[in-house]
Amino acid sequence: MSARVASFLDKGGTGKTTSIAHLGVALSEQGHDVLLIDLAGKQGDLAKSFGVWQGTQAAIENDDAWPNISTVFDDAWETIVEKLGDEAVEELIVQTDEGVDLIPAHPGLDTLDAELANIDDASDRYSRFKQFLDDYIDPLGYDAVLIDLPGMTTNVTYNGLWAAQNVLAPVEMGPFEAEQVGALRDDLAKVEANFNINVDLAMVLPNKVDSRTKLAGEYLDAYREEYPRAIAPKYVPSSQDIRNATEQGQSIFALDNPSGTARKARDAYRTNAEALIERVSGN
Ligand SMILES: Nc1ncnc2c1ncn2[C@@H]1O[C@H](COP(=O)(O)OP(=O)(O)OP(=O)(O)O)[C@@H](O)[C@H]1O
Ligand SMILES: [Mg+2]
Repeated sequence: MSARVASFLDKGGTGKTTSIAHLGVALSEQGHDVLLIDLAGKQGDLAKSFGVWQGTQAAIENDDAWPNISTVFDDAWETIVEKLGDEAVEELIVQTDEGVDLIPAHPGLDTLDAELANIDDASDRYSRFKQFLDDYIDPLGYDAVLIDLPGMTTNVTYNGLWAAQNVLAPVEMGPFEAEQVGALRDDLAKVEANFNINVDLAMVLPNKVDSRTKLAGEYLDAYREEYPRAIAPKYVPSSQDIRNATEQGQSIFALDNPSGTARKARDAYRTNAEALIERVSGN
């Protein structure tokens, strides 16, 4: 079985997509076969960060993006597979230039939340994605499957948490974010209690850290104290290179002349990727 991790925090813009992309590339560099899956919504951020969204977008505009990530939640998925055979899953997967494979988002994800809400049986409602990974992705033999989730709790989010059972929570250095990690821990405890599944906070990853400010240092210390087991070995500094590279459709691992902060960020992603795979494989 592949190691599975989902990035989640009930807050927008903390670096969920960026972290999935960069940890994925770091793992791939380290010799792991990696699949990234975007459940975060129709804007296709994960595919954009590898410059492979255009192809998907063209297919969507031509009404040709079928099957896609939203169809794997559907009752009809089994029928699609019967019809297309192995190609059904292959159709979903896009290759990137940076070693990782990727299943991009689709607009169908946006209506999926409401569709899932209509399924009466809670364990069916929340386990569709797990079923898909178990039956169709595990046989492909990836070492790691990293899932990007929306920055809010929807039925799609619960599917991702249920399937991955390991959460990566990127956090910024602020009071609101600190509160959100606390809320996340409570949420995960609730999921565990209600559904009798184990969801582990595998890594709290301090992101966009400006080490020159005293406040950042204080928040870092607080996170370390509050999450001694889950805290990432290294924080990711705030780096304009990360922002620019992402906008240009690549990771900072693809840069020829990385800045100092980008080199520091690369080093952090590499160390954290190793720690992450070790933590979730130990489960
Ligand atoms: N370490 C960093 N340094 C500088 N900019 C960063 C860093 N990490 C992420 N960013 C930038 O911050 C913005 C938000 O990051 P990202 O899209 O990964 O967050 P997110 O949690 O996925 O957001 P959303 O909730 O909207 O999906 C992006 O513009 C990204 O390039
Ligand atoms: Mg995102």
